[in-house]
Amino acid sequence: MNRNIIITGGAGFIGSHVVCLFVNKYPDYHIINVDKLTYAGNLANLTDIENAPNYTFIKADICDFDKMVSLFAEYNIDGVIHLAAESHVDRSIKDPFTFAHTNVIGTLSLLQAAKNQWKGNYADKRFYHISTDEVYGSLQFDGTFFTEDTAYSPHSPYSASKASSDHFVRAFHDTYGMPTVITNCSNNYGPYQFPEKLIPLFINNIRHSKPLPVYGKGENVRDWLYVVDHARAIDVIFHEGKIAETYNIGGFNEWKNIDLIKVIVKTVDRLLGNPDGHSLRLITYVTDRAGHDLRYAIDSNKLKKELGWEPSLQFEEGIEETVRWYLDNQEWLDNITSGEYEKYYQEMYKG
Ligand code: NAD
Ligand code: DAU
Repeated sequence: MNRNIIITGGAGFIGSHVVCLFVNKYPDYHIINVDKLTYAGNLANLTDIENAPNYTFIKADICDFDKMVSLFAEYNIDGVIHLAAESHVDRSIKDPFTFAHTNVIGTLSLLQAAKNQWKGNYADKRFYHISTDEVYGSLQFDGTFFTEDTAYSPHSPYSASKASSDHFVRAFHDTYGMPTVITNCSNNYGPYQFPEKLIPLFINNIRHSKPLPVYGKGENVRDWLYVVDHARAIDVIFHEGKIAETYNIGGFNEWKNIDLIKVIVKTVDRLLGNPDGHSLRLITYVTDRAGHDLRYAIDSNKLKKELGWEPSLQFEEGIEETVRWYLDNQEWLDNITSGEYEKYYQEMYKG
């Protein structure tokens, strides 16, 4: 079946993996990547598919409602996979307005543009919104998990803006009958992640013998999933997920930050030919993140039971592959960290 699908945020970390998967796997689909190219968007993530006949890149802001309306009409869009967002918690603490604007108004602008285009004819249409486990708040060390029924309890401006966007998506289903689906995923890792996030930041800092800033005592827990497995889940849910449903996506792979950091240090040192433990001296405990959620853990059993998805990669393999990728792609890292980002990083006290 031919389809015309807008993927928003397709030049970012997860979006670029989703765009590449869809362009390669579905030659009959026209994939229209709509991305504003903020500091986090990078067309170098897409060189593998940039000349594919079924791929179009549009530089645009999802908050520009008129532009979204014209894109939906021009390309006769029948599907949306919405990933564009401001995604970094630390930035949201400094600049919450940008997060509310992009994540809430941007999502509303896309929903309203889809509604205008589809005019109540929802046969074979789909609006798929990508969200985060952070909307559920924080767990204690008590073995519990976030399920699809966990009440929302966001703590950061980032998670509050994502929670709000999720509510708008549900409201468009309940009010207008729009065929929506939402997923809430845990922490992703892998190639092409912007090096302000824990794993690529620490790999890059070890490379440059720079301090590794561990927030608080390093005791917070995150549930890590390889980005390619997230893209596989998005593929399955876009095609087979039930309308108006929510699916949690996660790896059942919880790591205390400090334990994960030690694995990263060990792996980078080994691959760089440093003696074992050489870069442990770079670990520096710094002031904790404000409102720092203690523990995230996703129960993704619904997705496994209903749609047969589960992670394909063991964490040990994934982290080895990831570290190798960043060490083999130092030019990609250097291009990003040489300009504006480096200034931001210095301001964030970590330099
Ligand atoms: P990212 O920051 O790497 O990429 C975001 C992309 O969105 C960039 O290409 C950026 O240019 C684009 N963008 C930002 N504002 C835009 C605007 N106004 N108009 C058009 N494009 C805009 O983010 P990511 O880590 O790839 O996350 C993608 C999505 O997945 C987000 O919605 C995020 O909330 C969600 N998510 C991320 C994770 C994770 O671990 N990274 C986990 C769960 C959910
Ligand atoms: O859970 C899903 C979320 O995961 C996504 O919705 C977000 O978009 C994504 O950024 C990520 O959020 P986190 O805040 O969990 O990721 P981050 O890589 O920023 O931090 C991971 C953990 O490491 C967190 O407990 C904070 C800690 N940390 C992070 C940085 C950048 C440090 O100790 N030092 C650091 O320098």
